[in-house]
Amino acid sequence: MQTDVFTRNPVLRGYWYAVAQSHDVAPGPLAVTVLGEPLVLWRTADGVLMAARDRCPHRDAPLSLGQVVESGLQCPYHGWTFGASGACVRIPSAPAERAIPPTACLTTTHATERYGLAWVSLDAPVADILAMFYDGHARFRRINTPVEVWRVSATRMADNFMDIAYVPWVHTGTFGRAQSTEVPPLTLEQLDDTFYGYRYTIDANNPDAATVTSGSQTPVVTRWMTTGFALPFTICSTICYATGLEHILLLLTTPIDDVTSYFTFVVWRNDDFSVPANEVIAFDRRIGLEDKTMLERIPGVLPLDVAATASVPADRPSLAWRRQFAALL
Ligand code: FES
Repeated sequence: MQTDVFTRNPVLRGYWYAVAQSHDVAPGPLAVTVLGEPLVLWRTADGVLMAARDRCPHRDAPLSLGQVVESGLQCPYHGWTFGASGACVRIPSAPAERAIPPTACLTTTHATERYGLAWVSLDAPVADILAMFYDGHARFRRINTPVEVWRVSATRMADNFMDIAYVPWVHTGTFGRAQSTEVPPLTLEQLDDTFYGYRYTIDANNPDAATVTSGSQTPVVTRWMTTGFALPFTICSTICYATGLEHILLLLTTPIDDVTSYFTFVVWRNDDFSVPANEVIAFDRRIGLEDKTMLERIPGVLPLDVAATASVPADRPSLAWRRQFAALL
């Protein structure tokens, strides 16, 4: 099997992928692409999220260029309309219902909403969306961020988000300068029921722009952290500060194709909820832009054979993800 075109591997079709914020589909249609497959998202009159192949069964027009009307999703080409089951409910050129051919039906796929996001799974899901203890917890609030398109392979994003050695080099404009360039021995372990990774402590720069996020005013803050992955591409980092503030980052990568991905992250934190959400995540979004800028300079898919790249002990977390991902494929 050729593993450098990982998006063609059918095993990946059975996982949930975040593709939009829920409010991006209001009511749609919205075009997204997952694992190379163009999809259309929209809502039924009852507000239920739907997803289908972005192709009209009549003459292949992209349904995402149509509109959502009261009876369903209407194609822009000849106005056929598809109801909540995906079946055609109206053909303007032949309004009598008996004229609707049985093949006039959308190829729907699995869609749901969780954590403020729209998720799709191309095949029957092999597992539920990851449970996040913090969601709905009275002490924590959830903050969503936009779903962006990164011209980066999902393989390189997972590798990067499991990395720690690059922080003092890439995140020089945000929090990275205070972190030692030397990485201590890292022990990999099952962090909880979901994530496999490592625990570590770093010093982080805490410039004025970061103080609303860290909750501290000192120029450097210590972060007690964990970073772990859940296959195929989900990474979770938890940050604890000396003040007791916890800041949880769920990093969600969805392959559009082998070398392009959606990226969004969700934050949960146990602050006093007084700082507006957009101010809390502004610093994290600047950090994400530093990652994106670096990664978009690295072409192609990360070789899944770990022997194909040079590595050192500091790369063990990234290598653990890579080995498990290769085994999944
Ligand atoms: S192509 Fe969609 S109605 Fe004709």
